Amino acid sequence: MNISIISTSQRQDSQSKRVSDILQKRLFELQENLDLFSLDLGETILPLWSPEKKSENGIWGDAWKKISKNLSKSDGFIFVVPEYGGMATPSSKNLFLLCGEGELTHKPGLIVSVSSGQGGAYPIADLRSFSYKNTHIMWIPENIIIRNVESFNPGSHGEVIPSWLDKRIEYTLTLLLAYSSNMKPLRKIINRKDFGNGM
Ligand SMILES: Cc1cc2nc3c(=O)[nH]c(=O)nc-3n(C[C@H](O)[C@H](O)[C@H](O)COP(=O)(O)O)c2cc1C
Repeated sequence: MNISIISTSQRQDSQSKRVSDILQKRLFELQENLDLFSLDLGETILPLWSPEKKSENGIWGDAWKKISKNLSKSDGFIFVVPEYGGMATPSSKNLFLLCGEGELTHKPGLIVSVSSGQGGAYPIADLRSFSYKNTHIMWIPENIIIRNVESFNPGSHGEVIPSWLDKRIEYTLTLLLAYSSNMKPLRKIINRKDFGNGM
């Protein structure tokens, strides 16, 4: 099974990337035979969507096609999304515009939000409301919020992160894997040709 983990921070060496790497390791512990594609939008800078994308010049040639192919191959997604200004990051929104070829369509997605303080609820509300219409991503009905993210260190979080978070993460990752494998047959009956965009 193929899973993509996308860190949508706009900073290099971000907390979101650190969290993504930890989740990636945890996924392998839960299921060995996984093919994982990791995308760090702080490292791989994708320009804002523009009509230029159609030309397939520059980054929209091989570089984007490789990303698009990896996403298309994926059976499920984890989006690690820091809270920026009470919103999901612009780079996460941009990726939804760029994925215009059904890369995410009718596949399960898990939102993991990140905050250095007590935030983290807004990116979830933002993405759950405003990302699925044309991508047809299916956010699973669980999400994870990692507050005080600098202290996030599974097994020894310290005082500001509750110890039950590790069990919750294990449960939610297991759930995502179950959705990812069980939703595969659904995609055979999807008519993207006539109904590519949502209402
Ligand atoms: C531009 C910007 C806006 C931010 N806005 C918020 C916010 O609204 N709420 C919040 O809890 N944290 C906010 N933060 C702090 C982030 O939660 C913190 O920097 C976190 O580590 C970001 O994750 P990252 O390292 O993956 O980029 C903001 C940070 C940046 C850089």
